[in-house]
Amino acid sequence: MIPGINFTYCRHFIRHYLSATRIDVLHSPFVFNLYNSCIKRQPTNHAFNDIELLRKRLKADCTVLLQKDFGAGSSLFSAKKRSVRELVYLHAKQARLQQIFYYLIRKFKYTRIVELGTSLGLTTAYLSKATGEAGSVLSVEGADEIATAAQNNLNRLGLTNARILTGTFDNMLPQALAELGKVDFAYVDGNHQYQPTLNYFHQLLPYLHNNSMLIFDDIYWSKGMLKAWTEIKNHPDVTVTVDLFYVGLVFFRREQVKEHFRLRVF
Ligand SMILES: C[S@@+](CC[C@H](N)C(=O)[O-])C[C@H]1O[C@@H](n2cnc3c(N)ncnc32)[C@H](O)[C@@H]1O
Repeated sequence: MIPGINFTYCRHFIRHYLSATRIDVLHSPFVFNLYNSCIKRQPTNHAFNDIELLRKRLKADCTVLLQKDFGAGSSLFSAKKRSVRELVYLHAKQARLQQIFYYLIRKFKYTRIVELGTSLGLTTAYLSKATGEAGSVLSVEGADEIATAAQNNLNRLGLTNARILTGTFDNMLPQALAELGKVDFAYVDGNHQYQPTLNYFHQLLPYLHNNSMLIFDDIYWSKGMLKAWTEIKNHPDVTVTVDLFYVGLVFFRREQVKEHFRLRVF
């Protein structure tokens, strides 16, 4: 085994790439429409310029922050120092995926949004911009120095509809859910382990409605994540899922038959 290379992940990537559905034979009108309006590359959108400029700045920022590591059950077991630039490379989603989230939120006019795992807030910024003044984004981050940096980033971008809740997912998710009452869109991007991922899914379920959407990050990262993703897909309330390899989209629309799709984004 070559250190640093996750062979299972690579194998799944190749399998995904080769078995992804061809768009010209995509038989579901719902997913076909979703692909064309949100997943396919859209024309250049200048609304993203300030976030991308911020990303560039953060990539050159050597400020050191304390990053906490959260283990199973969200108990804090270690902490290390990371520069802001390292955190951008390690944590932030690619702009291509963040822009897909943006178009999904716009398409379904989602306003009650939860993110688990803020890091520096680059995805939060996309979620916030997508929902606009009418919406609210609650994003949970356990590492306080990183949470503060994220809040500063959102302030710099003038995004007032997003708030960082500092604390563990276990402690803060119930608060976020109680505050929002219902959840239209949730993005789970932290504590990528089997049991915690399923726990977040089950905690979110009572707050969802027919048109809600969940997005799980890194569904192929480990055996545990793949097991969690498989169980989520098989859950009786879940109808359509769209596997984009890097993230999995989950829908609960009762008017759809249960079907799983694999689509390529890159
Ligand atoms: C992958 S990063 C999030 C990246 C961010 N969503 C983005 O796209 O830019 C995951 C973040 O979740 C936080 N985190 C992980 N597990 C956590 C837990 N159990 N409670 C609170 N925060 C947690 C980490 O500190 C880290 O900043």
